[in-house]
Amino acid sequence: MGAIRHGVRPDGTALLVMPSAEYGSIGPDDLGALVSWIKSMPSVDSEPLKQRVGPLGRALYLAGDVPLLAAEVVDHDDLPFGQPEVGVTTEYGAYIASSCVGCHSLDYAGGPIPGMRPEFPAAGNLTPGIDTGIGTWTEADFMSFFATGVRPDGRQVEPQFMPWLPLGQAMADVEKQAVWMFLRSLPPMPMGGG
Ligand code: HEC
Repeated sequence: MGAIRHGVRPDGTALLVMPSAEYGSIGPDDLGALVSWIKSMPSVDSEPLKQRVGPLGRALYLAGDVPLLAAEVVDHDDLPFGQPEVGVTTEYGAYIASSCVGCHSLDYAGGPIPGMRPEFPAAGNLTPGIDTGIGTWTEADFMSFFATGVRPDGRQVEPQFMPWLPLGQAMADVEKQAVWMFLRSLPPMPMGGG
């Protein structure tokens, strides 16, 4: 409960929570659709990937704006993952990256975001495919993307679609590096998954 409402981990360090001001740019309709979609997600089963990606992650970035809804979504007595130690490890990266799956999908292969307006761009493929994902990116590209929203090919990604600005501010460098390491460990996937 403390984690979702106050953005604080049990050990007192700040949890990755979206500043709600930034999320004001998502319209109420979209937010409602996203929340319904999150609620419709099947609950955690025994597959390792799904165990890592729990409702906490899916609800995280909504929590700042909709604490009551988030409280309904999260079963506080049964969080599906433990508390990995902070560090540049795939384990910690997976923990932090669980806040990306609401948009980038459970397998991180991106694709259209369910419930979003048609003009909302498909979420990028974060797996390391050379042609389909971010396989040509370097770690430095990834880090600077979260500071500027500019991709290695020079395209500016709009922060109202991909919240690189609040995410970049919310994540410490160690968190971004761990997410990068985790994404690098994933199998390359076609856009939208396989
Ligand atoms: C609110 C939905 C949302 C969330 C949450 C989100 N993303 Fe995104 N992301 C997008 C969308 C949409 C795009 C595509 C934007 C575009 O192409 O203009 C994108 C694009 C990206 C890209 C660029 C990929 C490319 O090939 O252009 C990266 C990298 C990225 N996101 C990383 C992340 C990470 C890491 C997280 C979690 C820490 C995250 N995103 C959370 C929606 C989201």
